[in-house]
This record gives sequence, C-alpha cells and structure tokens, in this order.
Amino acid sequence: MEFYKVINTRRSIRKYSRKDIPKDVLERVMLTAGKAPSGRNRQNWKYILVYDNKIRNKLVAHCLNKRFIINCPVTVIVCGNVIPDHNRGKYMGKYGSVMDAAVTFDHFTLAARAEGLGTCWIGRFNNTEIKTILDIPSDWNIVAISPLGYPEDENAFKSCGNRINYDKLVSIDCFTSKE
Ligand SMILES: Cc1cc2nc3c(=O)[nH]c(=O)nc-3n(C[C@H](O)[C@H](O)[C@H](O)COP(=O)(O)O)c2cc1C
Repeated sequence: MEFYKVINTRRSIRKYSRKDIPKDVLERVMLTAGKAPSGRNRQNWKYILVYDNKIRNKLVAHCLNKRFIINCPVTVIVCGNVIPDHNRGKYMGKYGSVMDAAVTFDHFTLAARAEGLGTCWIGRFNNTEIKTILDIPSDWNIVAISPLGYPEDENAFKSCGNRINYDKLVSIDCFTSKE
C-alpha cells in the first residue's frame, strides 16, 4: 500500500472480527516494527504477543476494563528496557526507553494498517500489575498495548481522524510564528 495512504487511513480500531491473522502477515508486521530506529541502535524493546485467553482476561482488569483489547485474535504489548540516564544525555536520558519503544510501536501500527489490520494504542494500563501477570523482568516496563486484528467494520479505515491544521502544527523560527 502507498505510504501516505497508510498514514492517512490509519485509525484506532476498537471493534474486531474474529478472522485469524495469517502467520506470514503477522511476521511481516512484527519485523517491520523491528526496523524502527533507536538510540545507538540498541533495539531495547520486546514485543509480547498474548493469545492465551486466561492470561488475556487478567489483563482487562488492568486496562480500565476495556474488553476490546482482548476481543481480537491477539493482544500486543511492547516493553522498553530501562536505559541508564547517562547513556542518553541528561534531560532526555530518563525518557530513552519510552522513546525507543514508542517509535517501534508506531512502526507496528502503520505496518498493521498496510496489511489491513487494526490497532488501538492503549496508554492507560497498570504497568506493575501487568508486569507481574506476564512475568516481565524488573528492568523492563510496558510502554504500550494494542489489540491486533481485522476491523469488524470494513469501512473503518476510510479516513484520518481530525487533526490540527498546518499553521497550528508548524511555526517558523520560534514557538509562535511572527508575521
Ligand atoms: C500514547 C497514546 C495513548 C493512547 N491511549 C489510549 C487509551 O488508553 N485508550 C484508547 O481507547 N485509546 C488510546 N489512544 C488512541 C487515541 O485515542 C487515538 O489515537 C486518537 O483519538 C486519534 O484517533 P485515531 O487513532 O483514530 O486517528 C492512545 C493513543 C496514543 C498515541
């Protein structure tokens, strides 16, 4: 699919069909997620694909009871490995692992879209509880969660959602452009 079409038609999908995702499609999406850049090419991320319904049911309670995260073929969780602050400059240091995981997750959502698959970036979850459920080591944190599957509504990808216009998005020379 053409690059800008992927960008312009990606939407957060909250209703999924039960149609299985072919193995080769899923692998393509995950490998594309792994092509994302990261600081010093650390690739300090890890995806957990959760299929087991017993485990998935436990996750829901820690995602504001949003059942759509498991009403799909697979629930995808990206974790970031904590990077010591000094490896990333002073101010940005503590955000390093979150930035890297966010970049790969965006690649993931776009690759999924290119394959006709829906995602919904979930940022509201209980990191501590889900880490325990999934046996995630202490030096890793969950950065994002998403359901993955084909949308129930085949028109779900019609257009991009509302976005601010160019003038609000971009300013010239300083934060507020001067005439
Ligand atoms: C960092 C981040 C966190 C988000 N967290 C949630 C969330 O917890 N629950 C949810 O339903 N959607 C969540 N979303 C999805 C946004 O609501 C959605 O991307 C936004 O409304 C724009 O809609 P669109 O993705 O369809 O273009 C999140 C998106 C991002 C990027």
